Amino acid sequence: MRSAYALVLLARMSDALALYLARDRCDLDLSEDVVMMGQGAVRGQKDDIAIETTKGHLTANVSFRPEARYVEYVVETVPGNIVACEGTLGCGGARCAVRRFKGDRRPIAVRRGAFLRVAWALRYGVVSILETHLLPPVEWRLEVGCDRTGFFTELLGHLGALRDALGSDLSVRGLDCSDEELADLFDTEAAALKELTTDRQTPDALAIAHGARCSPGTVDVARLVVEREFAPGRDIGVYECALRAQQVWAPTRWAADQFVAAGATSVVVVPEAVNAALFSREAASRDDKSMAAIDARLGARTDAWTVLCVAKWERRKGLDVLLDGLFRLDDARLALHSYRPSWERGERNLQKVAESRRAIACAGRPRCAVVQWLGDGPLSRSEMRALYSRVDAFVLATRGEGWGLPIHEAMAMELPVVVTNASGIETLASPDAAILLPSNGVDDDGYARGPTARDVADALQYLRTNPATAHRLGKLAREHVVTLFSPHAVASIMRAELQAFVLRRATGRRPSSPPPRWSSVADELR
Ligand SMILES: *[C@@H]1O[C@H](CO)[C@@H](O)[C@H](O)[C@H]1NC(C)=O
Ligand SMILES: *[C@@H]1O[C@H](CO)[C@@H](O)[C@H](O)[C@H]1NC(C)=O
Repeated sequence: MRSAYALVLLARMSDALALYLARDRCDLDLSEDVVMMGQGAVRGQKDDIAIETTKGHLTANVSFRPEARYVEYVVETVPGNIVACEGTLGCGGARCAVRRFKGDRRPIAVRRGAFLRVAWALRYGVVSILETHLLPPVEWRLEVGCDRTGFFTELLGHLGALRDALGSDLSVRGLDCSDEELADLFDTEAAALKELTTDRQTPDALAIAHGARCSPGTVDVARLVVEREFAPGRDIGVYECALRAQQVWAPTRWAADQFVAAGATSVVVVPEAVNAALFSREAASRDDKSMAAIDARLGARTDAWTVLCVAKWERRKGLDVLLDGLFRLDDARLALHSYRPSWERGERNLQKVAESRRAIACAGRPRCAVVQWLGDGPLSRSEMRALYSRVDAFVLATRGEGWGLPIHEAMAMELPVVVTNASGIETLASPDAAILLPSNGVDDDGYARGPTARDVADALQYLRTNPATAHRLGKLAREHVVTLFSPHAVASIMRAELQAFVLRRATGRRPSSPPPRWSSVADELR
């Protein structure tokens, strides 16, 4: 099989040669894709076409196929400089595109951050570059503290991978972590934060607002989560931000539906990430220091089957139902990593709270499940990992989650998880990789009514008494999140969405932003 380098650089021209030949003259189906410089290759089926963009070069390999015996190599560096045409134009099967442009046959270097919209037709090996763009710098705005809210933890999950994937500059604004706070993170997370955090605005950056509401100023993309169904008057700050942004990134299809119901016009699904190389049983086992810290918190060693819950003590998290369900079991221990948020009233010693509930639920029974509260202090990231590795299962009888990062981490740590099937949680905890509890519809506030104590008890008892199934479920859980929601996978989705965003903006749907000038891209091409 012979192969030829076919490199067709056509700028944003409606009469691009390959399009003309393929679509207008030869009636071919064109495939389209976005190719990112420096990010591997796009391949046609059967390897008959390969567009490679490694080492800052774009190269298109077109293999000959029996019905397309001739493929011409075509280069155009600037639109409109077609100076010569050799051969014939036709669709006779032997020869489709024979045309030569002024230009250079050497691969052409394109700057980091550039990406191209490419069209190709396999039958005659035509390749056409429809548009060339540079991804602008990207500014991730997150105005929360570094005390590991869900927002902050989410950022930790994908930050390094997003930096590696973008090919353009990435900065994080709005965060100011102390050295102490950074010391609580994994080294790679702290390093990425240190490198990318700035308090200066990046001019012309594409802004991604993240958090409970948008920061003031222009917002291109809003990364938002919701925990309950949309209704007018609910979660006003979140929906105000959604409507102000050009595009909303929602973590699940369900969340996207809520934003659409609220009137957002451009909503895409971008899941959250957990680094499964950091969150692995193997990595935990090598970390003696964190293991010792967790063993001290868990107290006296016991043979009891232990299920973990990580959740703030607030109604939404369903800890009331969880405890009632737990206390239906005779032999089980709940490791509870929880605190009462400052805005919630009530006893802060959650061991006391659990004990008084237990006294009622377990009254008169010789044996009854126990709760081990891990205390008020936060855990470092590596202590969290050690905690997951020290328990048998994870449970959350929640009434609504934005995404569910503790569930995600538990799944990465090969724990079988039990969680309410509410607010799109199925995306993360798919039914073949988790045990889903019934949500029983929604209440007057739009939250899931949640499972019954009996539902919780049945699921826990099932895992406790079927260790082989529980083990298999844990393996499936890790496989599921490693495949779908790794930092690399999520960063690739983010990059693709940003490229699509820039393409859409350039094609004039937003007249306020002029399309990138060809000349600047052409300069890059030289
Ligand atoms: C293109 O062809 C060259 C030479 O045959 C080969 O070395 C290269 O790996 C090919 N690239 C792709 C993306 O297949
Ligand atoms: C989870 O809830 C969704 C939405 O209500 C439903 O479509 C789905 O069937 C449920 N899945 C399971 C496993 O119960």
